[in-house]
Amino acid sequence: MSERLVSDVLIKPDPVLELTLRPSLFSEFTGQNKVKERLEIAVQAARQREEPLDHLLLSGPPGLGKTTLANILAKAMGANVKSTSGPTIEKAGDLAGLLTNLEPGDVLFIDEIHRLQKTIEEYLYPAMEDFKLDIIIDQGPNARSVRLNLPRFTLIGATTRSGLLTSPLLSRFPIKERVDYYQAEDLQQIVLRSARLLAVTIDTAGAFEIARRSRGTPRISNNLLRRVRDYAQVRGDGTITAEVADKALALLDIDKNGLDEMDIRILETIIRKFGGGPVGIGALAVAVGEEPDTLEEVYEPYLIMEGYLNRTPQGRVATELISRKLGLQRPPDKQGRLL
Ligand SMILES: Nc1ncnc2c1ncn2[C@@H]1O[C@H](COP(=O)(O)OP(=O)(O)OP(=O)(O)O)[C@@H](O)[C@H]1O
Ligand SMILES: [Mg+2]
Repeated sequence: MSERLVSDVLIKPDPVLELTLRPSLFSEFTGQNKVKERLEIAVQAARQREEPLDHLLLSGPPGLGKTTLANILAKAMGANVKSTSGPTIEKAGDLAGLLTNLEPGDVLFIDEIHRLQKTIEEYLYPAMEDFKLDIIIDQGPNARSVRLNLPRFTLIGATTRSGLLTSPLLSRFPIKERVDYYQAEDLQQIVLRSARLLAVTIDTAGAFEIARRSRGTPRISNNLLRRVRDYAQVRGDGTITAEVADKALALLDIDKNGLDEMDIRILETIIRKFGGGPVGIGALAVAVGEEPDTLEEVYEPYLIMEGYLNRTPQGRVATELISRKLGLQRPPDKQGRLL
């Protein structure tokens, strides 16, 4: 295979860049039109009733705008955001501290909420439902439970792995929205906007070339834009055209189809080891060294959307389209026919 892969570096968030480029209003948030419309209605309705927004869960693969939406929502509600994440809440006391410091109407944003410990999660249930917190004070024979009233607040949870959330937690979110991969046209708009903010000269074809090689992910688009900008500055006159973008991305070994290393590993494994499929998710997960849930929730949706992978009742099947694109011949079937 001559093409290499979107490297890890490009998928990792760059905190400074993300702060500069993160839209803060619904009107600046491109794509996800249905999700956006439903959320805007929820905000407007809550504002009209002068109530906090209902608790809300945002799920979907990394880099698609969950944190961005949480901040947009809070801003649209005129609410302050307190941000934390599942793994940083180590003790029930940490959660109690966060909850008791909330002001009425505040948004508590818990990123990676699927990584919250189960014992801590249980404290959230009455907090979400009745705005009450039961804490145990003292130890041993003096230990007693005290019930605290909390202000009415909004919990916004974000997760890349909604399948790992327990059903009691899931059921306590009246609003659940899933963000999905972006179409290249939407990513093109995002690239053009980011280029404007970074004062980079780019034409629409250049933006499209970056967009279509970004694995449907705004974070990757923004990261690639920066790398292509460097190339245009050093090897050209600073302007990003389709040709410049293509040369820069080729030099960076970015796959022509915008696939990343794990995507390619999954597809190659299905084709090479499992004769193109069908292969069960468990066997595939072992073969590529990833958890089945992650395959299902993080990787497969994009591959299915692009027409590279099918889910059938018998298991996963790599399509002929991707076999051709990767230049891999599917082995002949049992009758010796090429599939
Ligand atoms: N719809 C959008 N329009 C414009 N820019 C976007 C959009 N969605 C995401 N971005 C850009 O992509 C970056 C990554 O988005 P964000 O941090 O919200 O993703 P995430 O879903 O929270 O990812 P993770 O699961 O890794 O936390 C943001 O900084 C923002 O610049
Ligand atoms: Mg995030």
